[in-house]
Amino acid sequence: MYRPLMLMFGLMLGGEAWGAAAANEPILPVQPAKITDADKVELGKQLFFDPRLSKSGFISCNSCHNLSMGGSDNLPTSIGHNWHQGPINSPTVLNSSMSVAQFWDGRAATLQEQAGGPIANPGEMGFTHDLAVDVLRSIPQYQASFKKVYGDGGIKFDDVTNAIAAFEETLVTPNAPFDRWLLGDKKAISATAAQGYQLFKSIGCVACHNGEAVGGSTFQKMGMVEPYATQNPAQGVAGLTGKDQDRMMFKVPTLRNVALTYPYFHDGAYWNLSEAVDVMARLQLGRKLSTDEVGQIVAFLDTLTGDQPDFKLPALPPSSAKTPHPTPFN
Ligand code: HEC
Ligand code: HEC
Repeated sequence: MYRPLMLMFGLMLGGEAWGAAAANEPILPVQPAKITDADKVELGKQLFFDPRLSKSGFISCNSCHNLSMGGSDNLPTSIGHNWHQGPINSPTVLNSSMSVAQFWDGRAATLQEQAGGPIANPGEMGFTHDLAVDVLRSIPQYQASFKKVYGDGGIKFDDVTNAIAAFEETLVTPNAPFDRWLLGDKKAISATAAQGYQLFKSIGCVACHNGEAVGGSTFQKMGMVEPYATQNPAQGVAGLTGKDQDRMMFKVPTLRNVALTYPYFHDGAYWNLSEAVDVMARLQLGRKLSTDEVGQIVAFLDTLTGDQPDFKLPALPPSSAKTPHPTPFN
């Protein structure tokens, strides 16, 4: 799950000609989702939007991973049950299927494993897995949908997380201007953005932010050259391993749709992309960029916004007389 620091100098192909074939580039275009089980994806979509999986009946996955806002909540840290102040910035769920593991510290190996976390987290949805299943079992249309997808075994919590994960796998954002450029459309991005991409490669951003997700594939230290000043107590992977060398090691975030997923970093301390780029260059690479250079990299990062999820808002089946009532206030 956790991979040690590996700066891929081989990828830093600075002076490369613009618009070389996509195959030679360290960033790959996002592939559109392949949906194999449409019923399962539809069920997962309903569950993702269903606030009845929370104690309050008010908080759904979409509350903190708003699919109308780049799959995040655009807050420094999230608001959970009882207005609980979350400890860490909510990462986007868009393209999260491409990540090597889930969470800033990688503590969940898969999307399915991850999905169980927030429902039972007292500071997030504040519920229990058993109560969530009780709610779903009380709703005849959910019973029918689970039966159709998972057979006759009754609704199990593993099925709930399995369906949510199947839906999340469809939350990819292909067709970004940068991907069209990679695929040969030389007019898809501006000259400034193309310069920004060259800089992103030549100064070494690409050593950590690469691949289809432009991140998500390794854990790296925040503050390689200079320590990161923050009030946030999170220590990254060290919170799991207790090892000193894992302090401030975080999963490298995807930069796909980064123009939409402000504020930035695990503490959500920076609202502007240009500030985040300046911080990265100084702290990770020991480099002070000029205003023009920051502007070029930001222009490049803006071209990573792809097609956002586009579907009919799911109509959720109504509760029945047997459905346990939510407890929003206590
Ligand atoms: C109260 C806000 C909140 C709710 C509700 C919530 N999440 Fe999250 N989610 C977060 C935060 C904050 C993190 C980062 C936590 C961490 O890394 O320690 C996160 C992390 C994730 C990640 C990992 C992304 C990555 O790049 O590592 C996924 C996937 C995810 N949530 C999906 C879900 C799903 C599915 C649900 C509903 C079952 C859900 N979340 C409900 C706030 C929330
Ligand atoms: C040594 C690896 C490494 C290098 C090099 C690096 N980054 Fe990062 N980047 C990270 C890590 C780790 C984080 C998450 C840090 C945190 O949140 O504490 C991050 C976060 C970011 C973010 C914020 C994303 C978000 O959603 O919060 C942006 C933007 C970013 N990097 C851009 C860049 C740019 C531009 C460069 C080059 C100037 C660069 N990075 C160089 C590892 C790296």
